[in-house]
Amino acid sequence: MTTEKNALVTGANKGIGLETARRLAALGFKVWLGARDSRRGDAAAEAFRSEGFDVERLELDVTSDESVAAAVRTVAARTSSLDVLVNNAGVATGYVDALNPDGRYERPPSQEPLADTKAIYDVNVFGPIRVTQAFLPLLLAAPAARIVMLSSYLGSIARAVGSGAGESQSPNVMGYGSSKTALNAITVAFARELAPRGIMVNAAAPGYTATDLNGHKGHRTVQQAAEIVVRLATLDAGGPTGGYFDENGPLPW
Ligand SMILES: NC(=O)c1ccc[n+]([C@@H]2O[C@H](COP(=O)([O-])OP(=O)(O)OC[C@H]3O[C@@H](n4cnc5c(N)ncnc54)[C@H](OP(=O)(O)O)[C@@H]3O)[C@@H](O)[C@H]2O)c1
Repeated sequence: MTTEKNALVTGANKGIGLETARRLAALGFKVWLGARDSRRGDAAAEAFRSEGFDVERLELDVTSDESVAAAVRTVAARTSSLDVLVNNAGVATGYVDALNPDGRYERPPSQEPLADTKAIYDVNVFGPIRVTQAFLPLLLAAPAARIVMLSSYLGSIARAVGSGAGESQSPNVMGYGSSKTALNAITVAFARELAPRGIMVNAAAPGYTATDLNGHKGHRTVQQAAEIVVRLATLDAGGPTGGYFDENGPLPW
């Protein structure tokens, strides 16, 4: 019998996903590095192996049924269970182009092309549903699996309307923000189903982090961002489920 713990991070070839994978590997997990582009996945895996980490590159495009099914087969051929799933892959199509020189977002909802909104929902909303459903048999086979959804402060309706405790109104980023609102609801839905089966499902807000997603305009580091993600991925028994957190605690929905 193996005592090895397995974790899968989608979109692990760069940004917050890469740092999350590093932290989980450092904690002793065997980490499956999900990457839609196998060359980028290979590069990340090579770098981790040279640091002595136990990682596997896993080709995985969260928008493709075939790709996700193939990824499940690959993992299932090597292990009987998955202890952690981090649904990290995400896009913010059109976001960077809509930033003015001061870094303020300047694309009103009425100007957001529907094609962008759809592209965002494909990855940020339907992706986590597809991946979670497909990997559920492996997650249920683990003693107490954890699922983390990469949400955002922009997913908070309380912040959008300016009613979050002590928070200013968030920027009006329709497609991306509402995709994370949907993801928050999806988090709660899976959490309700899976709580009786011992799986905790939570949403993490990493904060505005310097990555390709925002043209490196974010003010936080990926190390800071990964903190809450890793914490929710490694919750002790009795921890919360169906919640929405940053590193300081629960967030207003
Ligand atoms: N950065 C922030 O300020 C911030 C704030 C709140 C929440 N988040 C969330 O944090 C997560 C990570 O974002 P990040 O800032 O680290 O962005 P990033 O550096 O752009 O990384 C995004 C990752 O997602 C992958 N990805 C995109 N589409 C995919 C698909 N169809 N299938 C599989 N992987 C796909 C990318 O792969 P490629 O390299 O192939 O494009 C990349 O690995 C996202 O869910 C994002 O919404 C970020």
